[in-house]
Amino acid sequence: MAILITGGAGFIGSNFVYEWVNHSNEQIINLDKLTYAGNLENLKALKNQGQHIFVQGDIANQELVGQLLEKYQPRAIINFAAASHVDRSIKGPEDFVMTNVVGTFKLLEAARHYYSNLTDQNKAQFRFLHVSTDEVYGSLLPTENGFTEKNPYQPNSPYSASKASSDHFVRAYYHTYGLPVLTTNCSNNYGPFQFPEKLLPLIIHNALNEKPLPVYGDGTQVRDWLYVTDHCQAIMTVLENGQLGEVYNVGGFNEQKNIEVVKSICSHLDKKRPRAQGKSYSELITFVTDRPGHDKRYAIDATKINKNLDWAPKETFQTGLEKTVNWYLDNQAWTQSVTSGEYRKWVDTNYAARG
Ligand code: NAD
Ligand code: TYD
Repeated sequence: MAILITGGAGFIGSNFVYEWVNHSNEQIINLDKLTYAGNLENLKALKNQGQHIFVQGDIANQELVGQLLEKYQPRAIINFAAASHVDRSIKGPEDFVMTNVVGTFKLLEAARHYYSNLTDQNKAQFRFLHVSTDEVYGSLLPTENGFTEKNPYQPNSPYSASKASSDHFVRAYYHTYGLPVLTTNCSNNYGPFQFPEKLLPLIIHNALNEKPLPVYGDGTQVRDWLYVTDHCQAIMTVLENGQLGEVYNVGGFNEQKNIEVVKSICSHLDKKRPRAQGKSYSELITFVTDRPGHDKRYAIDATKINKNLDWAPKETFQTGLEKTVNWYLDNQAWTQSVTSGEYRKWVDTNYAARG
């Protein structure tokens, strides 16, 4: 038995590989293009290397995906691969269309062909699980309830528009071709191996290097933070027990304003790695020009996955943040290795004009 995952050298995908190897003996085939966001470093510490097979390649390469499906005969595909950063989607939306829309479409096509040739018994087992985001639902007003699976899609960034499009294709392949799909829409994740372009690792990285901590706009935007391992466990739960064709929203029951998140990181670092002369890292906080079209608030109502599949996050924000800060402190060589030439170019592109 085997599963095929895509994007398993990225942040959530690599955490998923560790969770999988810890919980199962089943082989895991990992197809990843190794963009700037994918790093084989992330998978170095895997204990059972033989259980994990890495293949470098693009999800849009239907022929390659078809060959992998024929060779390994997986019982499931989990699609993590995506261009994932909102600010990059604003600077250059095309990669987002190519991977998130066209790539997912090609992956679905390869899966449809493979599925159509399976025996009835293997068909009954097969699943295509698409990993998506709460950003497809758009932005909430402060008084609105969290997103349920019934909220209308109102994407506001090229990133969320491309993910919304991929979600629609996944849904259509269930209704039109009977491909046994499942979709998860999750809130913001944080934890080990997150590329330091995203808020938490960026703030930790800058703080440790005595650089300004950039907060967009007034910092009152709200995100619902979930520790990455809790997300991985939700995906495993949906894979094993989710109802075919259904969508499951996954969230942390943990809304925080960006400025609060940044201050919490600073106070953890103040305790764990005090600055010189008793200064606080919070003195490095700098308010910078806002992101265009910045969504004000995301929040997930995770009642469905909680009630129907008995999933709940294990980490609180307090415990998850402590683990995360400690991980980045203990793994500064990892951050060094991923913040090379390309990363510096991105930092110049994104932050120089924000003032
Ligand atoms: P990431 O950017 O850290 O990793 C993406 C991975 O996909 C990288 O390893 C990259 O090399 C690979 N990849 C990119 N394009 C590819 C292609 N064309 N073919 C094959 N591989 C390719 O992203 P992440 O944060 O781990 O997100 C994983 C998934 O979870 C994405 O689909 C994202 O939309 C979704 N998601 C992320 C969050 C979050 O907070 N990070 C929250 C909800 C949902
Ligand atoms: P991010 O980690 O990019 O995730 P997303 O945009 O998918 O929610 O950003 C999280 C929040 O933090 C978002 O409201 C934008 C904000 N942010 C900053 O204030 N400063 C930064 O340097 C970055 C990268 C993000």
